[in-house]
Amino acid sequence: MSYADEYQRSIEEPQVFWAEKAEALAWYKKPKQILSQDENGMDRWFADGELNTAYLALDCQVEQGRGDQVAIYYDSPVTDTRQQITYAELLDQVARFAGVLLRYGVGKGDRVVIYMPMVPQAVVAMLACARLGAVHSVVFGGFAPQELASRIDDAQPKVLVSASCGIEVERVIPYQPLLNQAIELAAHTPQTCIVLQRSQVTADLRANRDVDWEQAMAAAEPADCVAVKGSDPLYILYTSGTTGKPKGVVRDNGGHAVALKYSMKAIYDMNPGEVFWAASDVGWVVGHSYIVYAPLLAGLSTVLYEGKPVKTPDAGAFWRVVQDYRVKALFAAPTAFRAIRKEDPGAECLNCYDLSSLQTLFVAGERLDPPTWHWLDDTLGVPVIDHWWQTETGWAICGNLMGVEPLPIKAGSATMPVPGFDVHILDDSGNELGPEQQGIVAIRLPLPPSCLPTIWGDFERFREGYLEEIPGYYVSGDGGYKDADGYVFIMGRTDDVINVAGHRLSTGQLEEVLAGHAAVAECAVIGVADSLKGQIPVGLVLLKDGVEIEEQDLQAQLVDRVRREIGAFACFQRVLIVKRLPKTRSGKILRKSLRQIAAGEDYTIPSTIDDPSSLPEIAAIMREHGMIAA
Ligand code: COA
Ligand code: AMP
Repeated sequence: MSYADEYQRSIEEPQVFWAEKAEALAWYKKPKQILSQDENGMDRWFADGELNTAYLALDCQVEQGRGDQVAIYYDSPVTDTRQQITYAELLDQVARFAGVLLRYGVGKGDRVVIYMPMVPQAVVAMLACARLGAVHSVVFGGFAPQELASRIDDAQPKVLVSASCGIEVERVIPYQPLLNQAIELAAHTPQTCIVLQRSQVTADLRANRDVDWEQAMAAAEPADCVAVKGSDPLYILYTSGTTGKPKGVVRDNGGHAVALKYSMKAIYDMNPGEVFWAASDVGWVVGHSYIVYAPLLAGLSTVLYEGKPVKTPDAGAFWRVVQDYRVKALFAAPTAFRAIRKEDPGAECLNCYDLSSLQTLFVAGERLDPPTWHWLDDTLGVPVIDHWWQTETGWAICGNLMGVEPLPIKAGSATMPVPGFDVHILDDSGNELGPEQQGIVAIRLPLPPSCLPTIWGDFERFREGYLEEIPGYYVSGDGGYKDADGYVFIMGRTDDVINVAGHRLSTGQLEEVLAGHAAVAECAVIGVADSLKGQIPVGLVLLKDGVEIEEQDLQAQLVDRVRREIGAFACFQRVLIVKRLPKTRSGKILRKSLRQIAAGEDYTIPSTIDDPSSLPEIAAIMREHGMIAA
């Protein structure tokens, strides 16, 4: 099968195409409705089918004889721990933890928030929710209490699952104080918190609320899988939008299982029994899809790595893991390789390890800049595949189908649309643009399986944010172009979302934190280019009249606020005090122009601008501070 045939069929006959892919799953009840509309008029895949995602990931694999195969290789250089968990062992733990959740009142449709570091119990908790038909919402362990609180309030979980600590290289971070603070800040209170005690820190458990993981597991009865509908939610994953309030991306069970299982072979060319490693975190979408669900749905062994690309202990860490578990395909963010290249430009560390198992390297999460692509290509001698995706889709929108027909690679391009995604480049009015013309990257509806059907509890936000701008299309928020061969180049966000070391952040969210400082009258946060992290946020701040404060002092205070209210991973380090911010006559800050300045693009001075000299003034300040991309 050629890529073109596979892709064409998915676009011309989507229902036939996806019905065929759905045959690969052991449904309790096969779907009759392949594509239907829900109460919001939104397209839904396999709505009337019945299945259980944890059954497909575990029980079904054991039934097929994979009980003794390793499901998870847990590798934690930060605790000097290695552990192999077979499919049969994982099934046992998941069924027992599902029993624990059941005992604390969790049933089908109830929400469970999981705030954990990269430990196998995080995967157990996710799959246990899936087993009961409950909806998990994993919150990245780097988020500060305020962010955890806003997710608790939105998801309204019955139970919260956590651990006593996370470990950042050599720094142990106790989680219990963060958890307590988040619960105090939140209006909603979970009935129970189940806490995994790690040997590095013992959390003080609160009577009548907190439960020890091990004790609960020891007393638990295993629970069976609960059948859910294809359209029932599997999880909510919060991501940054253009405002401070995070968006709860909803993932269904049916479309997700079908798309992810298909992707494991079609995109990644993985077969049952082989080892796949996504070097991400379970708190991000890459972790959900390619550390946990897809590898297990496809009968692979997955690597769960609690460490960094560098410093744990050195720039050879990734190569060591590939060697030790005979990893066939590695998936990581470009920033991880920029960090490795910075410490080991000549790739000396590679000489210490046997990378003969590695057949392909996949990268996503941010643009793979051509210099990094070339370094990887020269260094590794395996295909380096950039693929573009979003939390909203749960899998790649554009990529190079290594399991169908690998196409020639072009540096800087995420190659071609993945089957099911009808990708168009449009101007602001929705007109199709020609080759090499940069515009809005949009996907013609219907979206394929696994893509979000709504924002949790707020369909209107989904409609307004993605579907309203160009009728008939999902607007991705990314800009880019296609070349004459149809290759897609994703060039960056067209909205107020920035990407810091592969982590998605909203500038609006950062601005809310800065604006809370007593000295700040107004502010704008923009992403400026960074050679390691892709982008880093910089705050442009206007002081209130009469306030006198040194820039360095204000910067220190604002940096501290962001670390406490969002998290250190936002890498907010730089503040510039400005005399005015460029605005329209109606008072809106000209963010697009600021983005253009920071990106080193030619900026136009809009006719609606209040004070035409304000933009060149900001451009001069940023140039003076070396903040404009070359
Ligand atoms: N819990 C608590 N704190 C965390 C954290 C977590 N899970 N993750 C990051 N942080 C903190 C770090 O400790 C650090 O704090 P510090 O400022 O006090 O030192 C800060 O956030 C920044 O951390 P990090 O982003 O790891 O930056 P770094 O400069 O230490 O390392 C990289 C740079 C490139 C190695 C690192 O950013 C990285 O591995 N990025 C890949 C990200 C990724 O895989 N994304 C998934 C997308 S697919
Ligand atoms: P997230 O939802 O956190 O996965 O972030 C999604 C955003 O990351 C996208 O909208 C893009 O802006 C960016 N992104 C992800 N993958 C790529 C890629 N391969 N090339 C360019 N940008 C990417």
